[in-house]
Amino acid sequence: GKQGHAIAQAALRAGAQVVLVSGPVALADPTGVQTHHVETARDMMTAVEASMPADIFIGAAAVADWRVENAGDQKVKKSLSGGPFLQFAENPDVLAHVAAKTSGRPRLVVGFAAETQNVIAYAQDKLARKKCDLIVANDVSPATGVMGGAKNEVHLVSKAGVESWPLLDKDEVARRLLTTIADMLKKGGAL
Ligand code: C5P
Repeated sequence: GKQGHAIAQAALRAGAQVVLVSGPVALADPTGVQTHHVETARDMMTAVEASMPADIFIGAAAVADWRVENAGDQKVKKSLSGGPFLQFAENPDVLAHVAAKTSGRPRLVVGFAAETQNVIAYAQDKLARKKCDLIVANDVSPATGVMGGAKNEVHLVSKAGVESWPLLDKDEVARRLLTTIADMLKKGGAL
């Protein structure tokens, strides 16, 4: 989404060689960034794998955890026997997969946590469970306007602790995040 595109742009400006793997968005490809468009979590995983190795991986996409397993090619007709039955299969977790790599793991793996409550506690849990170096946590409750909006209020959660930033333009969040990431790399991965 907007935050991911802003990060790609900021990383390019900071001098990185950037590959952006984007889900369906109504945003122009950032100039100078190699952009792959995908529609499914599995295609995102394939595109990410094809773009490795990388020094830094930032997972900002709101990937669906589930996909419909029994999607058909034809319209589902009304019947007298009740509504259609949807069966779900779990999608691969791109972020967790990249962070768990035993060889060729990026030096820094950064994930996002979009929550509507207990934002920091859930982010700390995600940091450990998905083996990330940094989680950028934000409250995406509808009242915040973060989803689809131009601004974001984030908390940076790492092993070192929590750093909370004020409400900022997503472009500014992206710039500051790149500065933080560069500092972390200099310090060998610590925030
Ligand atoms: O578990 P949750 O979806 O809240 O985790 C969010 C983080 O995990 C984001 O960085 C998102 O890009 C990543 N993710 C992923 N693949 C999934 C689900 C989430 O990479 N299937």
